[in-house]
Amino acid sequence: MNNRSYAYAGLGEVFRTGLSVPQSAARLSRLCFVEERLMFIQTAHFVGLPQRDFKTLLARFQNQEARHADLLRSRLRELRVPKSSLGTPPDEALAVLMDEAMHARDAVEVVASVRWLKSRLRDAYTDYLRAANHLADSPSVEIVESILAQHHAATALLDCAYKDLVRGPQAEKGAQGFIAHLQRYEQAAGGLDGTKEKSDMPPRDRSTQPFQIKHELARDESLQRVWDFIAPPQEEAGAHLAHMMSIRLSEINVAEGLGIVLCETTEKPWEFYRAISRHLWDEVRHSLMGEAAIEATLGDRAALPMRDYEGVYCMEAAPLEQYATLGLEVEGANMRYPVGKRGEWEFCKDRARHPLMTTFQDFDWADEVLHVNIAREQLSHWFEGGAKELSQFAAQGKANRTQVKKRHAAVTLPAVPNIPPEE
Ligand SMILES: [Fe+2]
Ligand SMILES: [Fe+2]
Repeated sequence: MNNRSYAYAGLGEVFRTGLSVPQSAARLSRLCFVEERLMFIQTAHFVGLPQRDFKTLLARFQNQEARHADLLRSRLRELRVPKSSLGTPPDEALAVLMDEAMHARDAVEVVASVRWLKSRLRDAYTDYLRAANHLADSPSVEIVESILAQHHAATALLDCAYKDLVRGPQAEKGAQGFIAHLQRYEQAAGGLDGTKEKSDMPPRDRSTQPFQIKHELARDESLQRVWDFIAPPQEEAGAHLAHMMSIRLSEINVAEGLGIVLCETTEKPWEFYRAISRHLWDEVRHSLMGEAAIEATLGDRAALPMRDYEGVYCMEAAPLEQYATLGLEVEGANMRYPVGKRGEWEFCKDRARHPLMTTFQDFDWADEVLHVNIAREQLSHWFEGGAKELSQFAAQGKANRTQVKKRHAAVTLPAVPNIPPEE
């Protein structure tokens, strides 16, 4: 009974004085603020950048940041931080740093700055673990360890994206120049966690005006695009399956609409942003499910196209309208049976007998139930009117979307071959 390596419940660092509650709260408030701002930055550039693989990576990371911020907010409340001060910039220089980072001008600057900010976060969390008493502050330590593991994995992926997007001396110069620019504000803030010496703050440079997302579809050449597709009946199983795969692939459109909702809707409680962030990442996952199903089945992710009309609607409609249309009309209709999400899953399982699409549709169905509930909850606060006016408003939004759809003709998709005959 002399092995004490698991004594003190296996917590290391129980004898060091560590940080006080106010010191812990001060550091974690700053890191929480950076995580929240990074959620907005990555979402804005997710909408604005055309590079498919980088776009979808940003969509994943913006929701990781939302979950990190959510964990930190809960912990800060336990550290005697009043709810009213959560989300307010803890330091002017830190706020300007994140505003300047938002103004990245292209993929080179975005990948360079996001990678740099996440590596600085990683270092700040590592320093936190080195400074805290792990017994006294065990709940923070456990949270920081889980966040840190994700930042390690994220920076490794961003290293790959950086090598892919920052090619040649000119691009490298642009990337390094933007990081050097941001470093001046970081130094003025005394580092992300505020533990370093502070230098004088340079004036705002790019961020004298708020960042504006361009309301245009940003796409690269990696996938084919059409305006819309004709929906074949279930009896034409191969054509119906191809249509379902292409519809999944096209969900990037609503995700970008949600990006606009997230970034352009101000003065909402944190719970709103947390919910939209999750909803956005789910719609990107659905698009990636389409991509994976197409690539796995047909050998090339570009074998089936995505459609544009829904994205054009999302770029044109006001945030409240498109969110009501998506949440109540489009996703609400998915709850019906036999035409909705359950029916799609049953088709993949029983008729097309496509195991991968069956798994995807099963989780897509679960996600959509969540989305309808999120939308009902958020719209009940956001929409200033009763339930009846809200449903009329959403129906009008759907009608506006149909008008956009009619601008160009729909095409017939090629069928997925080799679907087993009906039993
Ligand atoms: Fe979806
Ligand atoms: Fe959804």
